[in-house]
Amino acid sequence: MRIVSVVGTRPQLIKAAALMPALRARHDEVFVDTGQHYDEAMAGAFFAELSLPRPDHSLGVGGGGHAEQTARMLLALEPILVGERPDAVLVYGDTNSTLVGALAASKLGIAVAHVEAGLRSFDRRMPEEINRVVADHLSRWLFAPTPAAVANLTAEGITSGVLEVGDLMQDLASRVGGQARDPAALAAVASGLGLPLTPGGYAFATVHRAENREPAAMRAWAFILGDAAAVRPVVLALHPGTRAALETAGLTLDPAVSVIAPQGYRTTLTLQLHAAAVLTDSGGVQREAAWLRTPCLILRDRTEWVEAVAESGGQMVVVGLDRGRASAELARLAPTADAPRLAAERASGFDLAPAGAGTAIAAALEGAA
Ligand code: UD1
Ligand code: UDP
Repeated sequence: MRIVSVVGTRPQLIKAAALMPALRARHDEVFVDTGQHYDEAMAGAFFAELSLPRPDHSLGVGGGGHAEQTARMLLALEPILVGERPDAVLVYGDTNSTLVGALAASKLGIAVAHVEAGLRSFDRRMPEEINRVVADHLSRWLFAPTPAAVANLTAEGITSGVLEVGDLMQDLASRVGGQARDPAALAAVASGLGLPLTPGGYAFATVHRAENREPAAMRAWAFILGDAAAVRPVVLALHPGTRAALETAGLTLDPAVSVIAPQGYRTTLTLQLHAAAVLTDSGGVQREAAWLRTPCLILRDRTEWVEAVAESGGQMVVVGLDRGRASAELARLAPTADAPRLAAERASGFDLAPAGAGTAIAAALEGAA
């Protein structure tokens, strides 16, 4: 099958790297990068790190408001699809690049394959929720990562073309996660960052959701990170959009929060594996914390990854921006005296099986050709 894959953001480059070996073994892939993310640390660096090929088409759209960004991507993508004449367009997740790939393809009568179909936060204020609902309703193949995602699709009347394949990002975490296990991997990361990080001696954080870039929300999570940093150092790998929002609002973080640039995939896995706890609003990071079994506070009011939380045995908690709750959960999940031992045990025992999502997706598309 001839498939145009559309990516554009950091997590989509990571997902594309997870799927590509299986996809290219069976299909002819044309790789399109919208350029929604464009900084070296958010996009460029992942090509080398994850051995991604140079895109066949780079749209270079960059940032901007939703209308502007989406419109520019649509204008740039449509002629490429007309020229490439694929059998299918494959999109990942729930970003504006996902929406554009699904919309441009379906208007041209090209079948759409959606990876990570069926996830719902049931909060239409999130741009991601709009993107994923539209993409799902336009798709011919809906590759759902979890049973809850399948149930969400069923509830919306979508039953045809739905296949539960597992979580593609688990395939990649399984493939490269073992390299993070050795405490020497953390020592190398710590030395590269110039930070004295020891197993279980720090917390790792990321924050980038649009709702967490509002001034009131930024003040709230800044307090949460400040409280966490009073117990042990907090390392915050900061998305450039959040950095800009903090600057615009004139907000500064507690000095015990070490703000670092966005990191590579392996470094991020290493930082999560050896942390006493992870604090995040990221969809990808919360699942990785679950697979690594690192305690995780989710800095959102709800999550699409309900099974991960339910199956974590209390190790993952949706705390939103509730400062008191965050402090109490952190004290419960990562008690100061025990955190180094718990982190060392987790790292040495890390063993994650692949989900097999990549193979299942490639096979399902082949069967349909
Ligand atoms: C996007 C996705 C979000 C996903 C996230 C992954 C949408 C609506 N949101 O959010 O679902 O979780 O990517 O990280 O598609 N910026 C830079 N350099 C970059 C990229 C972004 O400076 O390389 C800054 C710009 O100020 C930009 C802002 O971040 O305007 C927002 O970027 P954008 O791609 O619109 O959305 P994200 O917040 O990254
Ligand atoms: N990630 C990364 N560097 C960072 C922060 C995150 O490589 O500094 C990885 C993370 O390990 C995960 C993915 O990016 O694999 C998640 O992407 P992101 O948080 O940007 O988006 P989301 O998953 O919330 O859509």
